[in-house]
Amino acid sequence: MRSLAFGLFCLLCCNAVRLDRRRPRPIAARGRNETTVQTKAVENPCKAVPLDFVFVIDSSRSIRPHDYEKVKTFIINLLQFLKIGPDDTRVGLLQYGSEIHPEFSLNTYTTKAEVEQAVRNMKHLATGTMTGLAIQYTMETSFTEEDGARPANLQIPRIAMIVTDGRPQDTVEEIAAQARQAGIQIFAIGVGRVDMDTLKTIGSEPHSEHVHLVANFSQIETLISVFQSKLCGGDESHLFLVQ
Ligand SMILES: *[C@@H]1O[C@H](CO)[C@@H](O)[C@H](O)[C@H]1NC(C)=O
Ligand SMILES: *[C@@H]1O[C@H](CO)[C@@H](O)[C@H](O)[C@H]1NC(C)=O
Repeated sequence: MRSLAFGLFCLLCCNAVRLDRRRPRPIAARGRNETTVQTKAVENPCKAVPLDFVFVIDSSRSIRPHDYEKVKTFIINLLQFLKIGPDDTRVGLLQYGSEIHPEFSLNTYTTKAEVEQAVRNMKHLATGTMTGLAIQYTMETSFTEEDGARPANLQIPRIAMIVTDGRPQDTVEEIAAQARQAGIQIFAIGVGRVDMDTLKTIGSEPHSEHVHLVANFSQIETLISVFQSKLCGGDESHLFLVQ
């Protein structure tokens, strides 16, 4: 999880050109709870580079209602690390089950408050797990200019973060490879019974930064604490200007 934190930090908070190659310090404060996370993040927002960032959220039947709420909390906490706006980071989100359910596109909202409200309003689909279909939609629709992605020549990083709890009911390997080839950087976060090999066929290289498996939905919150404590909260943030 540490390496995910570093990887994300570099995406969210560092410049594309990295001048400082010192290694980051180990993450210290891991015990902070969610309240702390949110407060601190608001006090110390990241100076983030603009991203086109699409959440791809598994909304399958196997996710229990209170776990679904934890996913929302995870998303909302991650949003605190992003500077959201039309000229800053744009955020889109789709849920998937047996079908794709786009919640909002990269150009739907222009403020963090609107995005947060939309996340809170999401309804659990409770159907299947068509992860491959979701990746296909992300590539073919979410990251188009019609849906608010900025033109490729602007070189705004295109990030897809997939959170899934189960084995896909369709094939993912080929479509995920196509999406990565198309320039989408994919983070694959698995929860519970997902197998690591499947996650690796989804996520970008290096897998140590992009592919993460946590034991259960409570563990996702731990990940947020890691982000907050070192990424955007402290005076030491500049130490993370590393590759
Ligand atoms: C979380 O941390 C805050 C501030 O330290 C504290 O007031 C609150 O009681 C904590 N909540 C839980 C659930 O531990
Ligand atoms: C979640 O996983 C952690 C680590 O394996 C474990 O300690 C904890 O009891 C689990 N929580 C639930 C609710 O299963």
